[in-house]
Amino acid sequence: MANEIKTIAVLTSGGDAPGMNAAIRSVVRTALSRGLKVKGIKRGYMGLLNEEISDMVARDVSDIIQRGGTILGTARCLEFQKPEVQQKAAAICRKHAIDGIVVIGGDGSYRGALALARQGINAVGLPGTIDLDIACTDYTIGFDTAVNTAMQAIDKVKDTSSSHERCSIIEVMGRNAGYIAMWCGISNGAEDILLPEKYEYNEQEIINHIIASRKKGKTHHLIINAEGIGHSVSMARRIEAATGIETRATILGYMQRGGNPTARDRYYASIMGAMAVDVMLQGKTNRVIGYRNGVFTDVDIEEALVMEKHIDEYQYEVAQMLTI
Ligand code: ADP
Ligand code: F6P
Repeated sequence: MANEIKTIAVLTSGGDAPGMNAAIRSVVRTALSRGLKVKGIKRGYMGLLNEEISDMVARDVSDIIQRGGTILGTARCLEFQKPEVQQKAAAICRKHAIDGIVVIGGDGSYRGALALARQGINAVGLPGTIDLDIACTDYTIGFDTAVNTAMQAIDKVKDTSSSHERCSIIEVMGRNAGYIAMWCGISNGAEDILLPEKYEYNEQEIINHIIASRKKGKTHHLIINAEGIGHSVSMARRIEAATGIETRATILGYMQRGGNPTARDRYYASIMGAMAVDVMLQGKTNRVIGYRNGVFTDVDIEEALVMEKHIDEYQYEVAQMLTI
C-alpha cells in the first residue's frame, strides 16, 4: 500500500484559523521526510479548480509556525458543491499526479474532501476552525488562540464596564456553535452566556437577572452573546430601555481569527499534520484526524460528518452557578 502514495497535496479552506500554518508546515515536512513529493494548493478548492498548484520544499514552510492566517490562502468556493465541478477537481488532481490531498478546514471543507474521496482521490481532513464545531474531535486547530484572544479583549471591556457600572454585551464568533461563547463566559466570569444551542429567546429573564444582580451590589453585568444569536446592538438598546442601566454592545469580530497561535495550537497542528500524512502511508483512505479523550485519532470522513456534538450540560450549569 505504502508505495502507492508518491505525491500529496495540501490546501486550506473555509475560515482561516491560527495554527493552520503550523499544520501546513507539518504536512510538508512529514511528507518530505517520508520521501514523498508535496504540492501546495493556493486558495482552497477555488485554487484547485484554477490549478494554482506548485511544488513545496522544506524551506517554503520556514518561519511560519508562529504566524496566524494561512500562507496558502483560503477561500469559500460555493461552486464546489456541484458534481461536475467536483469531477473536474478530481481530474485536475490526477493530471498533477496527486495521490492524496490533505484538506485543512472545518466541516464544510470536509464535505468538499468527501466529494473528492467519492471521485477516487484519497482525501484526509485536518480540523482547522476557531469554532470547535467538529463533532469527531475534542479539539480544533485555532480554537485555543481565538478563545484566548477573545478572553483578553473581554477582560479589557470588563474593566471599563465595571468603572462605569454598565451592562456589556459582547458578541463572539462561532457561526452556529457556542463554544467560544461558552469558554469566554466561564473564563471571563460572565453573568449571562447566550448560546445558539441553549437560548430560548427570553429577554425578560435577562433583564430580571440584570436588575437582581444590581440589587446584590454587582457593578457590572457581562453578557457573552454568541454570533449564532447575534443582534447584540438592538439587544443592548432594549435592555437599557428596560433596566435604566447604560448598556453597550461590542462585537469582537475578525480579531478573533488572527494573531500568533498559542503553543497548544502549534503543538496539536504539528502532530495532526504529521498524522494526516502517515495515515495515508499506512494505506488508509478518506480519514479525518482528531483528538478524543487524550488520544490523537483518525476516523472515516463520512462517519465524521454524521457525528453530533453538544454543549456539555454540567459545564453550562457550572457557568450559571458561578454568577451568584
Ligand atoms: P468551513 O470549512 O470552515 O466549515 P465552509 O462551510 O465555508 O467553511 O466550507 C468551506 C468550503 O468547503 C466551501 O466554500 C466549499 O468550497 C466547500 N464545501 C462546503 N460544503 C460543501 C459541500 N456540501 N460539498 C462540496 N464542497 C463543500
Ligand atoms: O468558521 C469561522 C468563522 O470565523 C465563524 O466563526 C464565522 O461565522 C465565519 O467564519 C465568518 O466567515 P467570513 O470570513 O466568511 O465572514
